[in-house]
Amino acid sequence: MGDAPEQHGIETFQAEGLSFPPDASTAAAANARADLYERASADPVAFWAEQARELLTWRRPFTKTLEWELPFAKWFDDGELNVSENCVDRHVAAGRGDKVAFHWIGEPGDRRTVTYNDLLREVQKTANALKALGVAKGDRVAIYMPMVPEVAIAMLACARLGAAHSVVFSGFPANALADRINDATAKVLITADGGYRKGNFFELKPIADEALKSSPSVTGVLVYQRRQPGTAGTTAMQAGRDHWWHEFVPGQPAECPADPMPAEQLLYLLYTSGTTAKPKGIMHTSAGYLLGATFTHRAVFDIKPDDVYWCAADVGWVTGHSYIVYGPLSNGATQVMYEGTPDTPAWDRWWSIVEELKVTILYCAPTAIRAFMRQGDEHPQGHDLSSLRLLGSVGEPINPEAWLWYREMIGGNRTPIVDTWWQTETGSILISPLPGVTTTKPGSATFPLPGVSADVVDDSGASVPLGSGGYLTLTKPWPSMLRGIWGDPERYKETYWSRFPGSYFAGDGARRDADGYYWLLGRVDDVMNVSAHRISTIEVESALVDHHSVAEAAVVGKSDPLTGQAIVGFVILKKGIDPTPALLEELRAHVGKNIGAIAKPKHLEFVPELPKTRSGKIMRRLLRDIAEGRNLGDVTTLADSSIVEVIRAATGAADE
Ligand code: WT7
Repeated sequence: MGDAPEQHGIETFQAEGLSFPPDASTAAAANARADLYERASADPVAFWAEQARELLTWRRPFTKTLEWELPFAKWFDDGELNVSENCVDRHVAAGRGDKVAFHWIGEPGDRRTVTYNDLLREVQKTANALKALGVAKGDRVAIYMPMVPEVAIAMLACARLGAAHSVVFSGFPANALADRINDATAKVLITADGGYRKGNFFELKPIADEALKSSPSVTGVLVYQRRQPGTAGTTAMQAGRDHWWHEFVPGQPAECPADPMPAEQLLYLLYTSGTTAKPKGIMHTSAGYLLGATFTHRAVFDIKPDDVYWCAADVGWVTGHSYIVYGPLSNGATQVMYEGTPDTPAWDRWWSIVEELKVTILYCAPTAIRAFMRQGDEHPQGHDLSSLRLLGSVGEPINPEAWLWYREMIGGNRTPIVDTWWQTETGSILISPLPGVTTTKPGSATFPLPGVSADVVDDSGASVPLGSGGYLTLTKPWPSMLRGIWGDPERYKETYWSRFPGSYFAGDGARRDADGYYWLLGRVDDVMNVSAHRISTIEVESALVDHHSVAEAAVVGKSDPLTGQAIVGFVILKKGIDPTPALLEELRAHVGKNIGAIAKPKHLEFVPELPKTRSGKIMRRLLRDIAEGRNLGDVTTLADSSIVEVIRAATGAADE
């Protein structure tokens, strides 16, 4: 664990003085109201009870809201509901069965429209198919699928039965899939022959088969056929174990009742990487999680009946779980689901979808926004994006420059932006503006949401004054919090609840400015220490990205005999900019001018790419290894391992 990212005279780089008060029309119609904050802080538990009664459909009302035996929480414990009924049946029962749930677009250009009636029919049949494969309440089901509507159907079918799903991102290799299946002892695997990405069909079933060689708990496999008819290629199926979805599911009985489930029924496991090689199965349960996803999707995305909402994440990450499946479907929203990558067939793919389907709300990651900035403004400018009314960001701190570009180029200088901080472990958004209520500052996630108690503390756990930085902690339980790590309660206590007794801490640093706004500083492990000044990577990176020639940047601390650590930066230039030595000097000076001489990188390199995790986060640990000329540590979470060699070649770092 690093030291607290305190600031020593270096202000977090911010677009000086810029702030965006809510516009009058958003404010007038917003789902969220300013008085939510006061109501919630007066009695957070009562606030969540009220939201739970208002937003969810219960089969048996709860009488107890919270039981809290630190760090183990139970929310609404004596209540019962069915999550799939909340996401599907209740909308059909209310007469909205013909409403579109998903406008789905395959990467090759094929399309499907899935209504809530369709979802109800398919979820029931799929749940019956799972039953036929031996799945019962309390079992675990692994899901390893591309972005097709059936992935949501599969998740809801599990929820309907009270079986927990464990979705494994389709980009993971066989050993990662096997580890996750085995840790959860999943009984059934739901997968596909493959999917379309970057213009090609990628095979999934052979990877699943490889994983299943070492996953003896799986006795049945359901395989969705995605390969387009008439295209080459075959899929091997193992008789007795494997079943094609299109042969097995349609013939199942049409009805599968949504039985009431206990509020604390395990809904899913989602694995995240930890400091050791063994991934952690984060546990989320039913009612509290669903409340967190439903409430935040309603308040933060301001969802209205006519919206066309698009969360561009993959369902393999928690963002897809909470903001493609559970939150939006619980709110009865109409969504876009797109299978492929933003650059196929060209870099305007997303913008043509926004134009065609008149998308009103878009939620994506800073890494995507910076990639779009780098490709040039002509791609969004070639499309009518005037349907958009709200934009969201998640996954990493968003540099002020990227925030401003997002608002101007995509949001037409009109749309509010919600920078949403949360984690796999928190289940739903915890720090974010409320559109129509909060005045935003580019680069700040602003304030904890109503009902959420956060703090920024120093090494001793004492709250730091406004204007300083420290560790971000959560000081009270919240309904969608993780309930533990699957099979390892000790690791749960140790990982999240031991650093600051009584508080949750999961590794992020933050600063509160004089107005109390939260500025996320990234993982505290990423903080650099230069001549006894702590400087967070995001500050220097934001100063670099602020320069008109820079598309993306990552900086790390490299050990230095003089200063302890020296800042080394890796810079990707925008299209068409020449990588000259003079520009390197200019960039160093630019950082010095913006955030102070102490933060001036000692060394900068131009690189064509940065190493990223499969979910798009920059892997600074690998850049540190490269800068230090060390052997690389664990690279299993790296999306594209060839990038490391490309960067080594570009920097010559190894021979320094
Ligand atoms: C970590 C959690 C949350 C869903 C996707 C990632 C970083 C996330 C922000 C934000 C600054 C952010 C944090 C956090 N992070 N959102 N808006 N501003 N940092 O889920 O993979 O569990 O990662 O992502 O470091 O701890 P995850």
